Amino acid sequence: MSFPLKSWSAERLARVEEALSAWVPADAPAGLGAAMRYAVLDGGKRLRPLLVLAACEAVQGHCEASVRAACAVELIHAYSLVHDDMPCMDNDVLRRGKPTVHVAYGEAGALLAGDALQALAFEFLTPDDEAAVPAAVQARLCRLLARAAGHAGMAGGQAIDLAAVGRQLTEAELRHMHRLKTGALLQASVMMGAACGDTSPAALAALDTYGWALGLAFQVVDDILDVTADSATLGKTAGKDAAQDKPTYVSLLGLDRARSHAEELLAQAHAALAASGLPDTRALAALAEMVVHREN
Ligand code: IPE
Ligand code: IPE
Ligand code: MG
Ligand code: MG
Ligand code: MG
Repeated sequence: MSFPLKSWSAERLARVEEALSAWVPADAPAGLGAAMRYAVLDGGKRLRPLLVLAACEAVQGHCEASVRAACAVELIHAYSLVHDDMPCMDNDVLRRGKPTVHVAYGEAGALLAGDALQALAFEFLTPDDEAAVPAAVQARLCRLLARAAGHAGMAGGQAIDLAAVGRQLTEAELRHMHRLKTGALLQASVMMGAACGDTSPAALAALDTYGWALGLAFQVVDDILDVTADSATLGKTAGKDAAQDKPTYVSLLGLDRARSHAEELLAQAHAALAASGLPDTRALAALAEMVVHREN
């Protein structure tokens, strides 16, 4: 029987949604809380939290830590979207089927909501209650997330993205940009889930390979969907990469080769799971399938 990803996800996401709704403050001053909640709640596929939880379950890890890690990664992701959409970056007006945060709350409101979400992510990872999440796990989670969000990950990749407008990159350059801007946070989601348990070095190395393959596949498919899907399905403006002259896997390879590249990366992700020696990686495998075969 194929893995029941829908019911598996629904159960886990209920916990994540509940935690996000409880912890993202409504009462932050001067409208900041409203902008933060607008950016995070009621939307998104929640792929990163699902990866954290699936990886944690694969290593039979610590549940409280993984829910905190799942929420923290989603906060960083939500903040990256708020800033990505701002006029100084991609200048987008639609996100998750709603007006973007700067449209709804102004540019300064969006900037500050992003800043506050980023800080809140690290607050989630460091609860006072050490019994809830051991200090060593807290530190490891913070390091993984900080690394993936900063200059060596998302922020660095976004800098390359903006500098690459109007240029065609080589495949190696494009891969590097995609791995940083999007892959790093997805890979970190997997490694943060794994960090909630005890894992052999061999299994960790396999999860690392899985995370990078899935992370790159994700952005290759994002590039494809920008061309093939419509704005209503995506919940964000379709066709904007070409409109803004961004180098993408589609502009470099064409649609067919971009699609087959995503399938190759999916095969790499599956092979890594098979080599991991972990007893049950079905949820991780199903999430990789979902990443490559999704419609939005
Ligand atoms: C979109 O990410 C932005 C990229 C990193 C390419 P998602 O497609 O995961 O967006 P949501 O969270 O579902 O809105
Ligand atoms: C954004 O990539 C990646 C982030 C770090 C947010 P895109 O600019 O392609 O994401 P979308 O297509 O706007 O969601
Ligand atoms: Mg962008
Ligand atoms: Mg964008
Ligand atoms: Mg895109």
